[in-house]
Amino acid sequence: MDRNIRTVDDVLRLLDGLFAPEADRWTDGGASWWDGFYTDRSRPVPFFAAKPDENLASYLDRGLIASPGRALDLGCGPGRNALHLAAQGFEVDAVDLSSTAIAWAEDRAREAKASSIRFHCGDAFALTDEQLGGPYDLIYDSGCFHHLPPHRRVSYLGLLDRALAPGGHFALACFAAGESGMGSELPDAALYGEAALHGGLAYTPKSLRWIFSGLEEVELRRMHDESPGSPLFGEPFLWTALFRRRG
Ligand SMILES: C[S@@+](CC[C@H](N)C(=O)[O-])C[C@H]1O[C@@H](n2cnc3c(N)ncnc32)[C@H](O)[C@@H]1O
Repeated sequence: MDRNIRTVDDVLRLLDGLFAPEADRWTDGGASWWDGFYTDRSRPVPFFAAKPDENLASYLDRGLIASPGRALDLGCGPGRNALHLAAQGFEVDAVDLSSTAIAWAEDRAREAKASSIRFHCGDAFALTDEQLGGPYDLIYDSGCFHHLPPHRRVSYLGLLDRALAPGGHFALACFAAGESGMGSELPDAALYGEAALHGGLAYTPKSLRWIFSGLEEVELRRMHDESPGSPLFGEPFLWTALFRRRG
C-alpha cells in the first residue's frame, strides 16, 4: 500500500506522473526528447538561428531593463538569448534540461568569446540555490514556461520568488491563444484527463496577468514578426511579457 503524499513536492510529482511519459518535456525524464530535437543543428527550426528575441533586444534598447547585472536564461536551449545578454554586459546563468542544447550553446559561447555565461544542465526547478540561487536582476524565459504542465506553475513561481532580486525583471515569450494555432487551448483540468500537453500550452493576456499577478506589469504584447534576414528573432504567435518585482 502506497501512502506517499506528505509534502507539496510529493503532490507535484504525483501530478507529473499523470501525464503520459511521451508528454514529458519539463523534467529530467524529458531531456532525451529535447536531445533528439537539438541533434541536427541545421534543421530549419526558426529559433535555431543565433539571434536574440526582438522583445529582449527592445527592452535593453529602450532602457526598460538596465544592464549590466545578473541574469538567468531559463530553458536556454542553444543559448541565443544568453549570448545577447552576455554581449550587453550581463553575468549570465543559463540552464537547460538538454545536454545536447547546452553543448551547442557552449560552442556558440566559445566562438563569441563570451566568458560571462555559466551553463547548467538540468531541471531548473530541481537545481540547488547554490547553482541557481540568484538574486538575478533579470530572469528571462523564451519558450520554456509553455511546456510546463499547469501544476508546475507552482514550482515556476517558487523559483521567481527565490531567485528574482527586489526591483528585478522577469520576461517571457510563450504561445499565444487565438488564431495562431500554436499551443493547446484546452482548459487546465482537461489536460490531466487527456494525459497530454499537445506540444505546449497557449496563454491569454488575462491568464498571464493572473498567474504573474504578484509582479508589476511593464509591457505585454505580441512578439513582432521579424523577416528571415533580420538580426532579431520574432514570431507573432508568441506573447511577450515584461514584469517587475516590486523593490
Ligand atoms: C522551445 S525551447 C526554447 C529554447 C530557447 N529558450 C530558445 O528560445 O532558443 C524550450 C527549452 O526549455 C527547456 N526546458 C524545459 N523544461 C525545463 C526545465 N525544467 N529546466 C530547464 N530547461 C527546461 C527545454 O530543454 C528546451 O530547450
